[in-house]
Amino acid sequence: MKLSNSLSFTFLLTALIFSVANAQPLAPAMFIFGDSVVDAGNNNHLYTIVKANFPPYGRDFINHQPTGRFCNGKLASDFTAENIGFTSYPPAYLSKEAQGTNLLIGANFASGASGFYDPTAKLYHAIPLTQQLQYYKEYQNKIVGIAGKTNASSIISGAIYLVSAGASDFVQNYYINPLLYKKYTPDQFSDILMQSYANFIQDLYKLGARKIGVTSLPPLGCLPAAITIFGSDSNECVAKLNKDAISFNNKLNATSQRLINKLSGLNLLVFDIYQPLYDLVTKPSDNGFVEARKACCGTGLLETSILCNSKSVGTCANASEYVFWDGFHPSEAANKILADDLLTSGISLIF
Ligand SMILES: *[C@@H]1O[C@H](CO)[C@@H](O)[C@H](O)[C@H]1NC(C)=O
Ligand SMILES: *[C@@H]1O[C@H](CO)[C@@H](O)[C@H](O)[C@H]1NC(C)=O
Ligand SMILES: *[C@@H]1O[C@H](CO)[C@@H](O)[C@H](O)[C@H]1NC(C)=O
Repeated sequence: MKLSNSLSFTFLLTALIFSVANAQPLAPAMFIFGDSVVDAGNNNHLYTIVKANFPPYGRDFINHQPTGRFCNGKLASDFTAENIGFTSYPPAYLSKEAQGTNLLIGANFASGASGFYDPTAKLYHAIPLTQQLQYYKEYQNKIVGIAGKTNASSIISGAIYLVSAGASDFVQNYYINPLLYKKYTPDQFSDILMQSYANFIQDLYKLGARKIGVTSLPPLGCLPAAITIFGSDSNECVAKLNKDAISFNNKLNATSQRLINKLSGLNLLVFDIYQPLYDLVTKPSDNGFVEARKACCGTGLLETSILCNSKSVGTCANASEYVFWDGFHPSEAANKILADDLLTSGISLIF
């Protein structure tokens, strides 16, 4: 941890302790949009093959129950909710928990296999980002009924909004879809994604959101399944995919800066998860990990979603030793590290 980071971390811890002592979260609510990295169970309610509501998913979660999270335990967004001071997680919007006063702390609209590009979600019968936004509008009407107009508007403007998208657009669509990769270069495809991203943020802003954090792409070429599928037997991170991710991330940063300049009062932050995850993959032992090439579930080379199930052969005993839980998703232990990193870089969203 850099000195500036550790100083701000200390400051933040002090604020957190103060806040927790007063039993008051640092934000009234949290809203989550995007893909499987942050989906807390919306896909359970859809006719899609992209699901994670069966063992061994969730085996290290509360009560060892699968919830639809694509992880053995908590997501980075769960740790973030805890870090902010919530004692429960914003409910998956399509779940039966998403009603009444449970909605006061926000809601989670994310859906596995969704992305910035609506056709990606449609390909997998997931919830496109534009539809997630429609659900959020519906939420706003509900919360007015639950908390009254004045309280609702302070929830909406004071809340933290988290967006995680883009990885599925590349890995589950662009790279395997000739209709896309023959027509567009990765750079051109990123530009299309940027257009949807800008529209999404502007729509969210119009609906009252002011504190928005968006995660960068991870090192796509280091995901275990990506190495297996695109890596020509090298067992190394696929350089081309990582290059595409870096180029996308630069565009994401530039587009975000333009949005900040254009929309007054908008606090928009890009959370870099590329570098922290890349560091975990290339230097696993520095953070107490034993394995980064293979994921815990099954052979660890490919399995995700329905292919990672209780009959998968080879699933590891202790996922804390693994950077990745399944072929595409970090383990709870890795998510904890990513969330701590997110917290240090996200202070300006909180205060
Ligand atoms: C608005 O919030 C205040 C303070 O939390 C609470 O006392 C009040 O009951 C809320 N209003 C409604 C209509 O729920
Ligand atoms: C873009 O990246 C630069 C350099 O890393 C950083 O200072 C800036 O805050 C970033 N912009 C946004 C909107 O996150
Ligand atoms: C699992 O691995 C972690 C990290 O190496 C270690 O701290 C923990 O003690 C292990 N748990 C068990 C039950 O072996």
